[in-house]
Amino acid sequence: MADEKNDENIVSEAQIAVHWKEEEYFEPNTKFIAQANLTDPDILEKFGEKNFPECYKDYADLLTWDKYWGTTLDTSDPPHWKWFVGGKLNASYNCIDRHLAKYKNKTAIHFVPEPEDEPIVHMTYQELYNKVNEFAAVLRDYCGLKKGDTVTLHMPMIPELAITMLACARLGVIHSQVFSGFSGKACADRIVDAKSKFLITADSYYRGGKLLDHKEKADIACGRAEEEGQHVEKVLIWQRYPGKYSAATPLVEGRDVFINDILKDYRNVKVKPVSLDSTDTLFLMYTSGTTGKPKGAQHSIGGYMSYVTGTSKYIQDIHPEDVYWCMADIGWITGHSYIIYGPLALAASSVIFEGVPTHPDAGRPWRVAEELDVNIFHTSPTAIRALRRVGPDEPAKYNYHFKHMTTVGEPIEPNVWRWYYNTVGKKEAVIVDTWWQTETGGFLCSTVPGLHKMKPGSTGPGVPGIYPEILDDDGNPLPKGCGKAGNIVIRNPWPGLMMTIWGDDERFKNVYFARYNKDPESKDWHDWPYFAGDGAVEAPDGYFRILGRIDDVINVAGHRLGTKELESAGLMVDEVGEAAVVPVADPIKGKVPHIFVSLKPGIEPTEALKKKISDTLASEIGPIAKPGRVWIVPDMPKTRSGKIMRRVLGAIAAGKDAGDVTTLANPEIVEEIKKLY
Ligand code: WT7
Repeated sequence: MADEKNDENIVSEAQIAVHWKEEEYFEPNTKFIAQANLTDPDILEKFGEKNFPECYKDYADLLTWDKYWGTTLDTSDPPHWKWFVGGKLNASYNCIDRHLAKYKNKTAIHFVPEPEDEPIVHMTYQELYNKVNEFAAVLRDYCGLKKGDTVTLHMPMIPELAITMLACARLGVIHSQVFSGFSGKACADRIVDAKSKFLITADSYYRGGKLLDHKEKADIACGRAEEEGQHVEKVLIWQRYPGKYSAATPLVEGRDVFINDILKDYRNVKVKPVSLDSTDTLFLMYTSGTTGKPKGAQHSIGGYMSYVTGTSKYIQDIHPEDVYWCMADIGWITGHSYIIYGPLALAASSVIFEGVPTHPDAGRPWRVAEELDVNIFHTSPTAIRALRRVGPDEPAKYNYHFKHMTTVGEPIEPNVWRWYYNTVGKKEAVIVDTWWQTETGGFLCSTVPGLHKMKPGSTGPGVPGIYPEILDDDGNPLPKGCGKAGNIVIRNPWPGLMMTIWGDDERFKNVYFARYNKDPESKDWHDWPYFAGDGAVEAPDGYFRILGRIDDVINVAGHRLGTKELESAGLMVDEVGEAAVVPVADPIKGKVPHIFVSLKPGIEPTEALKKKISDTLASEIGPIAKPGRVWIVPDMPKTRSGKIMRRVLGAIAAGKDAGDVTTLANPEIVEEIKKLY
């Protein structure tokens, strides 16, 4: 029973929390407060429930609208909340054109190649404008793409990714960027689901000192998409070194083209930004869920842009003169919201870093920060842990100064937080621990940096305009300070929330709203709390501490992987009979997957087979899915109804007590598996 399992997980996560004592507060420093975008405590009142939803007008007013909206929030079709209805705008215009009058010679994007001897590229807003226009002309006139069409992008961290997204946005073409570290197969699944006829990719990119052949993934992606009935007509290839092809994989005649060749015909062409409805779709971002199939979170233009711009201004404290570096990959939602759309809408200079933070050594990020005079820094606990492990004293060697730092994606241990604060931030920078999700478009919980005290290991209260609450399994609110963990929900709609799951509206309603919806007929948003899928506790001060996923999702290095996806990849290995994946704590990545398999009759367990299974997970999904360990077991622990008891496997993998196993159909197997530890 699903509920039974959820209970177990919450209890175990809550036990972790018990070991974490209440931490002392840290005050934001006065220098930060003196320049902060938001220091007026009235904001909390202003964005309070009494002024909802009109409070969000403040965020929408940060944008330039072609036509002002009539209705701030339309709740007539729950839970499809429509924001700024009647309004018209263009995201590309808001991120580029409108800045030209004042900032055309200001850097929009600093591109930092991984090889340190390659110079940093400083692309101004004017240059970005020219390039986005030319590529939009290619998309429109060469590809014939128009408003509402989808294209899949499988691009690495190069400035052409920003150009491609903004060119799509200029036309109202829906982009679906797939993380470049994902396999060709994972890309194919997303092409098929989005029904894309075009794939935009790059020939190669640097990762950990190697120039990788990325084009070969396009061939796999198109081949597998074809098998599943989706024909890719054209693959458009950006070259890592313009004019030169840097991959070994040959081009496919008639299908593959170099973008730089086509661009020659579109020199200096200008494309008028298409005026789009607030509720038109800006992009899809696929994320993992409890079933094997990834789901495409479908984000709006008006609501999403308002929300990421507002939170970039007030929570990231971005001013136009800031140099802002978010080290996430643009292939994840963090990069969409807080490398591209939010910072550029505010006319900041945003850094795109191609490489691995610890390559060639753990001083690299700090050298980049010094060279570019970065003053806002944004990364994940996984990156912080890795940098601390390899270079605990590196930050002190470089002359950079951050005013603001963000942590995102996973819970941060208080001692890791302190290293970030003391050593990386040199006790000068405020820290925001931002909790949110692919589906939510932007931050849900965080301290407001110029207003709130920080507390290591806690995300903070809901950001202005977000009203979170913790519910028990029956839907009763757990009051703050009660010490009990439960399911965190957001009681109200907000503009950043996805509109639906692409092509699967039932899943949208079921996954996020069915759990606590009081009345499916109700048109009152109060009856539709958003179920986030995380366990959490609320301290007496109203700060939330996020404990982790309560569903079958593993958060590896701040990124979501579905256990079902990993298991089906494992089952693709011929010798495997059954597979079960569990999360196991890891000192750097937070959690890593362990895969347990039982073999088909007559097959012998060997080291070679373990490697084959591990390699299959990496090739089917991506290196991020490589299991921490492959366990070949004689049989799976099962309930009497035949369900694999992942909880028992998880305990064994962690070297912990497996608890009460007497209700299993085969309790004796537990001892046998333990011997493998
Ligand atoms: C899941 C969402 C948010 C963008 C990157 C990940 C976990 C996220 C925090 C945080 C503790 C966090 C949650 C959430 N998570 N931020 N600050 N503290 N946990 O986006 O891949 O959609 O993953 O990441 O479990 O549900 P995502």
